[in-house]
Amino acid sequence: MASTITVNENGPLKVTGEFTLEDKDGIAYKLGGRDTIFLCRCGESTNKPFCDGAHKSCGFLDPGTARELAPKK
Ligand code: FES
Repeated sequence: MASTITVNENGPLKVTGEFTLEDKDGIAYKLGGRDTIFLCRCGESTNKPFCDGAHKSCGFLDPGTARELAPKK
């Protein structure tokens, strides 16, 4: 099962499916059996890299609308 990352409007990245979340040293986070997690993209979570709901009160706004990136150089 492939993983899917959904950019939520004004909120976190939802990651679902088969994935591994690793720190900078390649050590995997233990996710307690979860197959769906939410990663903070507002920068205000006190539980980074996970969302703790702080985006709701910090004024984070981003529509999360899909767009095309410039070609890779
Ligand atoms: S996106 Fe939810 S706390 Fe940052």
